[in-house]
Amino acid sequence: MTIYLNGEFMPIEQAKISVLDRGFIFGDGVYEVIPVYSRRPFRLAEHLARLQASLDAIRLQNPHDRARWTELVGRIVAGNPWEDQNVYLQITRGVARRDHAFPKGLKPTVFLMASELIPPSAETVKRGAAAIVLPDFRWTRCDIKSISLLGNCLLRTAAADQGCVEAILVRDGELTEASASNVFVVKSGTVLAPPKSHLILPGITYDVVLEILRDAAIPHEVRPVKESELRSADEVWVTSSSREVLPITTLDGKPVGPGRPGPVGAKVYALYQEYKARVMRAPAHA
Ligand SMILES: Cc1ncc(COP(=O)(O)O)c(C=O)c1O
Repeated sequence: MTIYLNGEFMPIEQAKISVLDRGFIFGDGVYEVIPVYSRRPFRLAEHLARLQASLDAIRLQNPHDRARWTELVGRIVAGNPWEDQNVYLQITRGVARRDHAFPKGLKPTVFLMASELIPPSAETVKRGAAAIVLPDFRWTRCDIKSISLLGNCLLRTAAADQGCVEAILVRDGELTEASASNVFVVKSGTVLAPPKSHLILPGITYDVVLEILRDAAIPHEVRPVKESELRSADEVWVTSSSREVLPITTLDGKPVGPGRPGPVGAKVYALYQEYKARVMRAPAHA
């Protein structure tokens, strides 16, 4: 596997960083995961815009302009064997003596790697997956794509311990998101999505799904979703770059609706696949 670290491309085994890197000491950094299909990054401009928002929120200057990021992502994609990839990129504040306050003038650590992208199979999407519901005990800046993911990791592990793919989170009686995905709920034919706020990550897939709902004239509302609406939903889906649109068919062991993926989710999944195929056929600069 070819990775990029601070100006150089190399095999992952050769990559080394200092133990004083603030990413290692404090989790002081941000990241992005960009899906790549047929070696073409999906919604790269949107991922780079979200990266900029995360950097601004943690007061870290963007070390590269858009052209340089595009080049780096392109070289990582070219340097790895898979047609479909997840490109992971991470920027930390850099290396310094341990002190909580951000030191000035550090050189950020920039790291990119790739892995094979394997979306859920059509069978998994047809069958649906299990999730649990947990209190969202994370901090209140979940809009930042921070590398400090211990809360998300604890929640996802609690789900995995119960044989579930996701932990769906509620805070103050309302749905926020899941440990590594956004959540949509269908109630009486209307799709409900929690609005973007500091309590959820503004998912790139979330935006694609909202565009699909709008273009296909599927009734939907972006508004706070009560825990009771989540628990009595006809359909629940989780969305992310790697999970795409995945139906959740049990919550805490109880069936969602009839316990099978529903028609609205199936339609949105199909439209998502069509959208992806269309974008991948478009000219490279699109
Ligand atoms: C906490 C959280 N919410 C939502 C998402 C979905 O974001 P995206 O659609 O950009 O993958 C992710 C993705 O990893 C996530 O970690």
